[in-house]
Amino acid sequence: MKNFINLKDVPTKDLRKILNDAKKRKKKRKKLNTLEADKDQPLKGKLLIQMYEKPSSRTRLSFYIAINQLAAKSITVKKSELHLGKGGESLADTAKILSTYGDGFLLRTDSDKKIEDFSKNLTIPLINLLSPSSHPCQVLSDIFTIEEIKKKPISKLNICWIGDSNNVLNSLIAVSVKFKFKLNIGCPKNYRPPMFVMNWVKKNKGKIYILNDIKKAAKNADVVFTDKVFSLNDKGNKVKKIQDFKNYRINSNLMKVTRPNSIFLHCLPRGDEVSEEVFLGKKSRVWQQALNRVHVQKSILLYSFGKLR
Ligand code: CP
Ligand code: NVA
Repeated sequence: MKNFINLKDVPTKDLRKILNDAKKRKKKRKKLNTLEADKDQPLKGKLLIQMYEKPSSRTRLSFYIAINQLAAKSITVKKSELHLGKGGESLADTAKILSTYGDGFLLRTDSDKKIEDFSKNLTIPLINLLSPSSHPCQVLSDIFTIEEIKKKPISKLNICWIGDSNNVLNSLIAVSVKFKFKLNIGCPKNYRPPMFVMNWVKKNKGKIYILNDIKKAAKNADVVFTDKVFSLNDKGNKVKKIQDFKNYRINSNLMKVTRPNSIFLHCLPRGDEVSEEVFLGKKSRVWQQALNRVHVQKSILLYSFGKLR
């Protein structure tokens, strides 16, 4: 049994195994309907418990489909419906109960500490569905999408992120170090990734460059990523942040400095950080990106259950 909490803690060879498995499974089930299980029914009879403490459209639905395709069942519980945090039931007791009834626990939370506490108290795999510091399922799936479109290993591509230093970027940084790809980050001075993250990058010889000028950051990029300026856990000064990010918007002019076959990705939901023209334009692959989450998350679950082929 293995947790899937932070990409930096998963061995690179296991990340690659997950991507390979997802590719094989996606190809094999071309003729099957959405909820029909893969032929081998690898998680038949298992119950996966999902809990969302913050809104989610894509993660919730893509995991529901993924779990069904593995022949498992899922139940989604709301924090407000559990005794957790109320009525005196401790996280440790809740974790024990979840481990008694369920075979895996999938959690989206606004507390990294809660993820850590659950990981210590559960005896079933824990999957991080987004925390303030990381969004591992999203980013591993995005690597899959890039390699699928570019038909090249990610290590041979220039990746660019324009925007806030948030959970999605943290996971992208982690995987950039793991898979050794070049990552340019275009962000305002006061919104750089924290020092401890960049020290980790340095220690692990990452190829990550931070630039204030977004044209320099996007030059010759094969892939341009962005995300909302305000993440779900963002409690900062909104007016100031909007002002600070006014020159960090992706538009067609910026995309002109990227490579001719470059693509645009966004995990969604979106805000004003990208123009409508780019978001709906011919370089955008955001819908394929969203759909691929189903395929990669299936292989993430199989990894957690020690069932990767
Ligand atoms: N990208 C993503 O995680 O979307 P949701 O918040 O809708 O799950
Ligand atoms: N950074 C965003 C990602 C949403 C999927 C957030 O945390 O809200």
